[in-house]
Amino acid sequence: MSRGVRIAPSVLSADLTRLAEQVDQVTKAGADWLHVDVMDGRFVPNLTFGANMVAALKTVSTLPIDVHLMVVEPEHYIAPMADAGAANLTFHPEATIHVQRQLAAIRQRGMKAGLALNPGTPLGRAEEVLDDVDLLLIMTVNPGFGGQSYIPSSDRKIERAKAMLSSRGRDVYLEVDGGIGLDTIAAAHAAGADTFVAGQAVFGANDPGARVKDLRRRCGVTA
Ligand code: DX5
Ligand code: ZN
Repeated sequence: MSRGVRIAPSVLSADLTRLAEQVDQVTKAGADWLHVDVMDGRFVPNLTFGANMVAALKTVSTLPIDVHLMVVEPEHYIAPMADAGAANLTFHPEATIHVQRQLAAIRQRGMKAGLALNPGTPLGRAEEVLDDVDLLLIMTVNPGFGGQSYIPSSDRKIERAKAMLSSRGRDVYLEVDGGIGLDTIAAAHAAGADTFVAGQAVFGANDPGARVKDLRRRCGVTA
């Protein structure tokens, strides 16, 4: 089944001194979600935002906030992210011992539960808990930084993820993250992805709003 195409600009690459203005630009251009990368300096070698960023975005945008936790022990952030207004909460299975428990806790708090797989992490990690997953995030770079290059073998992994979801009859968002831009989005879409995080491609462009539309167009969507 098709969910259409979702574009989720990553605020990691936004100009934080003009955040509200840039969020407004991508919102007016039809962005679907705002992606927020939460890094703790332990799961990945970089530090970024916490629940306060989600709460701040909620004051300037009506778009659903798509939170990507790159932290150890994501269980500590479920309640704060729910309280801050996150719509989706995604974490990595290596970051916690009881993956299914955290997925259930996220749903319990009224958010969509996402599982993120690094390039080296097998799909089987998600397959075991698929009934508890609303969103599967295939990392198409090793997480930690914006502006990295898309790993070419990701296309094949996306295809296999799509086949796994179809064979299980699961209506799950299939999101890709890392190096998504004008040159890579069409192949990722053709492989089966329906939701596209884009940081540098959107906020590194002269006109972030126009870039959101261009990315959508590359997927064959004209609206
Ligand atoms: C990478 C983050 C991404 C990042 C993507 O660790 O998870 O969401 O913002 O940035 P680009 O699109 O620039 O690769
Ligand atoms: Zn991300």
